Amino acid sequence: MFKHAIIRDVSKNFQNGITTSKLGKPVYSTAFLQHKDYSDALEKCGLKILSLKAEEKSPDSTFVEDTAIVNEDLAIIANLGAPSRKGEEVEIKKVLEKFYNIVESIEKPGTLEGGDVLRIEEDYFVGLSQRTNKKGALQLKEILKTYGYSCSLVKLNKVLHLKTGIAYIGDGNLITSGEFVKNPIFQDFNIIKVDKGESYATNCIRVNNYVLLAKGFEKLKRSISGLGYDILEVDMTEFRKMDGGLSCLSLRF
Ligand code: GLY
Repeated sequence: MFKHAIIRDVSKNFQNGITTSKLGKPVYSTAFLQHKDYSDALEKCGLKILSLKAEEKSPDSTFVEDTAIVNEDLAIIANLGAPSRKGEEVEIKKVLEKFYNIVESIEKPGTLEGGDVLRIEEDYFVGLSQRTNKKGALQLKEILKTYGYSCSLVKLNKVLHLKTGIAYIGDGNLITSGEFVKNPIFQDFNIIKVDKGESYATNCIRVNNYVLLAKGFEKLKRSISGLGYDILEVDMTEFRKMDGGLSCLSLRF
């Protein structure tokens, strides 16, 4: 069970972050409210929320998931691959040191962003992407091995981060879209294929007794409900404009 979530308030400079979406500029006031709803949803899942102040110099810093990998044993501080996001991990490290006795770090020339790291029970999958290089992924693998976790590398061809196109919601159920639907590395799981028109919603998160899902993706909602999960929907329109998904907005542990 998760007990804590770290989130970071949306910067007023949010619209100046990195994006490929071509969905227009995010509206700060709407993003602010959506972020509040997201935080409320995590609280409903039973998490205690630690909310960090917005960092105006780092427009993407609300996407805290990219700054660290956290589990019940340790925290691993990322070395972000996007040049404009370097340094976002500094404050997160200080915060995580209050929760964890063991805090490791990915060191350059390795780069790694948390959005590329998928945990499935005791196994990890790391996306080799524009943001996460092989050196970073192999450092993570070595660290995780010490704590009894396996780690496999997955080459990405199209999406930003591994978790843009894949999510594990427990009980063997893997939500997948695009390039991951037929990837042999995941074929032992119960694959729930997301329709092309709903691929944004693939990035959902299982948090204790709920699955958090982006609002407005009815087919995927029906599929996940059909598997017996309770769903909390969160409107994500403004974060989508900045290439962000539900998992990106928190560190959960
Ligand atoms: N805007 C989120 C990212 O590109 O990292």
